[in-house]
Amino acid sequence: MEAVKETINSALEKLNITGGASQGTPAKEPSEGDFNGLKATYEKAGQGQVFSFYEKLSTAEKAALFEQLSGFDPEYINEITERALHPAKTDSTEADKLEPLPENATSSVLDSSTENLDKWYNSGLELIAENKVAVVLMAGGQGTRLGSSAPKGCFDIGLPSKKSLFQLQGERIRKAELLAAKKHGKESVTIPWYVMTSGPTRGPTADFFEKNAWFGLKKENVVIFEQGVLPCISNEGKILLESKSKVAVAPDGNGGLYQALIQSGVVTDMGKRGIQHIHAYCVDNCLVKVADPVFIGFSASKNVDIATKVVRKRNAKESVGLILQKNGKPDVVEYSEISSEDAEAKDSKDSSLLKFRAANIVNHYYSYEFLESIPEWAKKLPHHVARKKIPFVNTETGETVKPEKPNGIKLEQFVFDCFPFLTLDKFACMEVKREDEFSPLKNARGTGEDDPDTSKQDIMTQGKKWVQAVGATVVSEQQTDGIEVSPLISYVSHFLKFCEIMQPPLYRAAY
Ligand code: UD1
Repeated sequence: MEAVKETINSALEKLNITGGASQGTPAKEPSEGDFNGLKATYEKAGQGQVFSFYEKLSTAEKAALFEQLSGFDPEYINEITERALHPAKTDSTEADKLEPLPENATSSVLDSSTENLDKWYNSGLELIAENKVAVVLMAGGQGTRLGSSAPKGCFDIGLPSKKSLFQLQGERIRKAELLAAKKHGKESVTIPWYVMTSGPTRGPTADFFEKNAWFGLKKENVVIFEQGVLPCISNEGKILLESKSKVAVAPDGNGGLYQALIQSGVVTDMGKRGIQHIHAYCVDNCLVKVADPVFIGFSASKNVDIATKVVRKRNAKESVGLILQKNGKPDVVEYSEISSEDAEAKDSKDSSLLKFRAANIVNHYYSYEFLESIPEWAKKLPHHVARKKIPFVNTETGETVKPEKPNGIKLEQFVFDCFPFLTLDKFACMEVKREDEFSPLKNARGTGEDDPDTSKQDIMTQGKKWVQAVGATVVSEQQTDGIEVSPLISYVSHFLKFCEIMQPPLYRAAY
């Protein structure tokens, strides 16, 4: 028990470190006993090749490799690799049964009454005012498709203000705090922001937040933590070395969130702060309504463990996961794993619609109790295989090889893989308008889809719409021009500064 406490305390202490390697005492070579013990474990698992160059390494390199390898259990790595590569086959007569979610598990802001929307908004804002709401950001991805080596959140999408994605999100949190405080006569309200990074993104993310003074939030309410990594594996099932003294590793996928929330002490911290409702989202969506009171109010009123937002899928080929029910449980089928038959299937009642059209935009609500239960199920989350070109050191020749075709796999967990652990009555889904809430930054400039220009355009178009909704006439030289509205002036969807003094019917029209 004492040991557990110590681990949690030390993790809590680390929560606000600003990243970078620890600068401790000079490296010490592991003792012969420790080294032999670790080597035997790896050899027993058939992974002894990771020590191929050990004898020739410097003391610091030996210490670093020893530390890195001590962090993995090679038998467990073998086991999850085997399970990911050869998942247990289901009997073909009992193939997975996919169906859209039942209607009683879904709501849509598109056809919800203004009464319901107002009710959810007000109750969500009240929960925020009671300091019961926190936000979790998944920002551990490496943004390879975007072609930038900096964390995605630092990206300047070309707005007139030059605000980064992190800044837009931080300012929305600040605005939600201010709105809740004002409405409920509180001096101050806090929405803690827990930012998940990974090995490659932690240092630059922490530096960026510090340089930008935590975007107007209090430093102690912005908690940067780190997800885990897993070794990269060759097509033959062997752990790959990136250099003679380092294992090639990759972040363990956004499903690594759950272990990281526990191991870094975030859930404990939430408990201490009295958090009950959590909004989690992805860094790449410039329109994300961070800590959206409507979503919080909706989810809390349904008394569910998880809720998720969806938009209508653009077309059968769009790279989005689909929220549905699989064998009677809530689930997501990822775009990389769906059959073309399911992707293209039509709605039986309306053949102009896709049967599976609830596109996952990775906006999740979690109850605090659900996050507390992570240790009970985290090990059950499956790993998915991503086949990649992974540079590695040939352990026989010592040469570094840069492969031209995929030579190995990275193992990743998906954040939605815990959905099937719930029954349908503990899960809800809310359909929202794409133009209001979803414009992800996935591709490099010039792609024309989900790239920095479409992100910028979507923000500018939205701003123009808000301004027009409160009676302004927008005159511009080009049709594509728009208006950037600072999140500090307006909370995300409606032009609040004006709305506050408007008549209710107009308020509703602008919502
Ligand atoms: C993701 C969803 C997909 C959804 C789409 C919408 C998953 C597994 N897939 O796909 O269903 O329709 O977004 O845009 O969620 N991340 C980490 N750590 C990692 C890997 C990723 O924190 O190890 C974060 C990224 O920083 C990003 C988010 O997870 O914020 C999504 O990652 P990304 O790889 O871009 O997901 P997609 O493949 O686009």
